[in-house]
Amino acid sequence: MDALPSFPSSFVWGVSTAAYQIEGAVSEDGRGPSIWDTFAHTPGRVRDGDTGDVACDHYHRWPEDVALLSELGVDAYRFSIAWPRVQPDGSGAVNPKGLDFYDRLVDELVARGIAAVPTLFHWDLPQALEDAGGWLNRETSYRFAEYAAAVADRLGDRVGRWITLNEPIVHMAQGYAFGTHAPGRELMFDALPVAHHQLLGHGLAVRALRAGGAAEVMITNNCTPVVPASDSEADLAAAAVYDGFHNRLFLDPVLLGENPLLDGAPCVRDGDREIIATPLDALGVNYYNPTRVAAAPDGSPLPFEMLPIEGVPTTAFGWPVVPGGLRDLLAGLHDRYAGTLPPIYITESGCSTVDEVTPDGRIHDTARIDYLDGHLRALHQAIGEGVDVRGYFVWSLLDNFEWAEGYQQRFGLVRVDYDTQRRTPKDSFGWLRAALRDQR
Ligand code: FCB
Repeated sequence: MDALPSFPSSFVWGVSTAAYQIEGAVSEDGRGPSIWDTFAHTPGRVRDGDTGDVACDHYHRWPEDVALLSELGVDAYRFSIAWPRVQPDGSGAVNPKGLDFYDRLVDELVARGIAAVPTLFHWDLPQALEDAGGWLNRETSYRFAEYAAAVADRLGDRVGRWITLNEPIVHMAQGYAFGTHAPGRELMFDALPVAHHQLLGHGLAVRALRAGGAAEVMITNNCTPVVPASDSEADLAAAAVYDGFHNRLFLDPVLLGENPLLDGAPCVRDGDREIIATPLDALGVNYYNPTRVAAAPDGSPLPFEMLPIEGVPTTAFGWPVVPGGLRDLLAGLHDRYAGTLPPIYITESGCSTVDEVTPDGRIHDTARIDYLDGHLRALHQAIGEGVDVRGYFVWSLLDNFEWAEGYQQRFGLVRVDYDTQRRTPKDSFGWLRAALRDQR
């Protein structure tokens, strides 16, 4: 395989994880229950009845995991902070032991020269807040800002770059509209206030983090280039509607101060728009694949239909592998938001593979190497075309709890044997380590 083209010398190389997917230790040191504990323990919700009770046991094994980051040679580590560790009921007094865990983690990262990039909300809402309405309740936005301030107060002296929310579209759609993720509500279009309250919480948190001295604040959105199934008027219109929900609902309010889908909605109050549009230092973009969209068939509850993308390889999850989609996505963002688009970090990119451990104990995940190689070349092209992308984070360091798919899907550069918790770097880990050395 040819060496990757050279990225700018200041380019940030990293990997990402999230609290509920790796930490385990769900009842330790005063952590309160989250909506994912409740959901995973509800029979039938998660494949094979898997839960995050133990996950990768990262809560106890974090020194080994930070050593892996060092060995890999990344500049930065994106992880998430579990709100229910910091405030077990989602409000009020801070649980110092919960913050101690992240304090030790950040110290160790700093000692090894790895920048800590925490995400404040990666879907594990304290259950007590869900009991009061979750993100359907405007109060949750204010609680989120208070929690953000408490975390910044403790970690702000060592953390420069913060992420408020992870993928609010996925949390709203899967969690509140379709019910396939926690909290498992099936409200369809009545879930829309969840979009607004997450964005309001984001804007309030940006202000709280800045007041706490944060140097750089961003939001991470899941973005997809939308490919109309044909040039017919109906397919083009359906593709535009899909783009509106998936991409623009969470970008236009933040970058343009506009929200066509929620204009006039009772959940939007005077002043919200300005809070949500508080300028950002960067935009986090998670890219996995494009989405092909056609007009909805008669009687569909949705105004569009998603179709498979034919003729391309797929990941173990069945997701289409289209590296050029990353270039198209970035070019599209650059065109649409022009002067208002801040620098971008790709905060997640990766694939699940069916990994076999060969008799010599190795995992030859060539599909992951191809995936990363292809996406990095597409990213390099986009940078060459003028899109300001400052970093790339692979999802994920470790195999982990893949939400409703449980432990079935493996996204890690490092294999986790869930019986023994043994970590084994896969071939992709060695490939990335060598690629990062070449870049320096
Ligand atoms: C993203 C999530 C992340 C992980 C990957 C595969 O949508 O942010 O937690 O599950 O998908």
